[in-house]
Amino acid sequence: MTVQTNVQLKPFNTFSIEAKAKYFVEVFTIEEIKSILQNPDYQNIERLILGGGSNLLLTKDFDGLVIKINLKGFEVVREDDENIWIKSGAGVVWHDLVMHCVNQNYAGMENLSLIPGTVGAAPMQNIGAYGIEIKEVFEELEAIEIATGQIKIFDKQTCNFGYRESIFKHEAKGKFIILNVTFKLNKKPTFHVEYGAIKDTLTEMGISELNIKAISDAVIHIRQSKLPNPAEIGNAGSFFKNPEIPKTQFEALKAQFPTIPSYPVSETTTKVPAGWLIEQAGWKGQRFGNVGVHAKQALVLVNYGGGRGEDIKALSQKIQASVQEKFGIQLSAEVNFV
Ligand code: FAD
Ligand code: EPU
Repeated sequence: MTVQTNVQLKPFNTFSIEAKAKYFVEVFTIEEIKSILQNPDYQNIERLILGGGSNLLLTKDFDGLVIKINLKGFEVVREDDENIWIKSGAGVVWHDLVMHCVNQNYAGMENLSLIPGTVGAAPMQNIGAYGIEIKEVFEELEAIEIATGQIKIFDKQTCNFGYRESIFKHEAKGKFIILNVTFKLNKKPTFHVEYGAIKDTLTEMGISELNIKAISDAVIHIRQSKLPNPAEIGNAGSFFKNPEIPKTQFEALKAQFPTIPSYPVSETTTKVPAGWLIEQAGWKGQRFGNVGVHAKQALVLVNYGGGRGEDIKALSQKIQASVQEKFGIQLSAEVNFV
């Protein structure tokens, strides 16, 4: 394990933002993590736990220690007639694990195909797509407490998952490194095809009998058709969360903007797609120097190359102000600012 200095982080974030880390280390084992956390040379400095860098906005050079999590490998840890439990290292690429499960015919993750990033970061914001969130296949995780070096187990209840939320964005923020996650998959699938364009895509693909591989293929197809590939254009997926607003506020907006789309959340709360709000506020496809708003998906801010984190941050603030002014809705960032 070697700690490098002044490391360029551009290859380690999907926005492809240039920023340097004062110290940078890749860890492959729990022992290496313990050792770096105890190393007296790196105490009392800021730490950034890094997975695939696909939900980060680097706004400046990082004057601390970046710990890149590379704990690899996954294995079946339990099995019964209905379910199979798989424990995966935090550094495993999320989509690789999903593809393994799809190929083995273990159901539950197929709607979450092609989400970038690592297994260890997935519980942070309870990743979700196409009607499924990881909380639905989550069993437990192990994390090391940075202050004490103790390993703790978090079950589903302790994680307190919500829409793009978990304990790791609140009380436990910055206090733990997730080491591994155990998922509970199903041997008998329940198919979730009600969301968005999945059904139409399956029909176009000529699928008459549902199976998890077909759903995964459909999700991959839809995602590739609207989300920019970070290997071609820098981005971090949805920049903001879809706002959840009081139903009364939604009804008033609907009277003013009859085409506003919505999803019911509860008796009293309605979710509105931020992409629609941003598009209606006139931002979709707008480019400002090296950064801009994606032409096919207004919720995705992009770096065309050479853009700075500060430029993206400034653009996001302008978007927030204009959506607030037009609709009276405060957008909050999904992306983590560093
Ligand atoms: P990073 O960006 O490296 O880190 C994210 C946060 O987690 C940081 O705060 C980091 O410090 C922390 N962290 C990372 N690893 C650990 C660990 N082991 N222990 C403790 N903390 C850790 N997200 C969705 O939910 N649904 C989508 O459909 C979706 N689509 C996307 C599409 C594109 C094109 C892109 C670029 C992103 C998309 N995202 C989506 C966001 C992103 O894929 C997820 O947030 C993903 O879980 C981030 O994983 P990562 O390893 O890249 O995390
Ligand atoms: N819309 C527009 N204009 C746009 C974009 C969207 O009007 O430019 C409207 C449309 O009405 C569309 C609706 O917004 O029907 C929803 O759009 P889409 O299906 O593309 O999904 P989203 O709400 O923008 C969310 C997640 C994505 C996830 C998809 C699919 C959030 C913040 N984003 O996006 O997650 O992949 O649904 O489930 O919840 C991410 O978190 O990074 C991410 C990409």
